[in-house]
Amino acid sequence: MKVAEVRDKYIKFFTSSPRNHKLIGAAPLVLAEDPTTLFTSSGMQPLVPYLMGETHPEGKRVCDSQPCLRTQDILEVGDTSHTTFFEMLGNWSFGDYFKKEQLAWFWQFLTEELKLPRERLWVTCYGGSKEVEKDTEAYGVWRKIGVASERIIYRGDNWWSRAGTPEQMPVGEIGGPTSEIFYEFTEVLHNPKFGGECHPNCECGRFLEIGNSVFMVYKKTEKGLEELPNKNVDFGGGLERLTAATNNEPDVFKIDVFKPMIERIEEVSGKK
Ligand code: SER
Repeated sequence: MKVAEVRDKYIKFFTSSPRNHKLIGAAPLVLAEDPTTLFTSSGMQPLVPYLMGETHPEGKRVCDSQPCLRTQDILEVGDTSHTTFFEMLGNWSFGDYFKKEQLAWFWQFLTEELKLPRERLWVTCYGGSKEVEKDTEAYGVWRKIGVASERIIYRGDNWWSRAGTPEQMPVGEIGGPTSEIFYEFTEVLHNPKFGGECHPNCECGRFLEIGNSVFMVYKKTEKGLEELPNKNVDFGGGLERLTAATNNEPDVFKIDVFKPMIERIEEVSGKK
């Protein structure tokens, strides 16, 4: 598939019944009213006030495709999956639907709309910490959807906030446990340079993270993590990576949007 087709399918899927999300416009790459960061680095960034409890004018369910620049990824550029600039498909629930609906809908989108083979998909759930318990609820939802137990991995670092782990979150920052989905390129052999054994979070190129459902329910305070007024969902999936998966193409730079640019650069530079 091409990038435009994947974006279109996602927006149609999440705006149609029974999901009924409102499509919102993408925010600029430099947010005028957010002094916390230089660039928009994820779809949730312009939505922080609503995740914190404010009422969104479009309602409790919104979706979009947000251009992002992740400066913390710049040093990773040069492998097959990190780009300097990307689009993030996103859907949000502001205290409306939660884990059961989110995980089932995204799984349906991957397997029915994008037609990704189930046997190439792996998922992770939050493994728990001193402050927050293990996410057995997400695990249970995955099992109910029909994901085999050996394809569901608990990880202690399955946590998302703009600042990183709960310890790294400054007072006032929001975050929560996540459940990620990975696509496996079974043709790519594990490179031992990245560790003895391959696993979904391995950086060798065999696995690609294609979606991240954050259960955004905590705010950092002076006393530690406190629950937000709402149980929110913050989903983000890299559009270029999802497109690469639909083509079973382990190199994200070989999808339709990058290919012509690379070919032109080759032509101009006379180099491969
Ligand atoms: N905020 C999460 C991310 O950027 C999910 O949207 O991965």
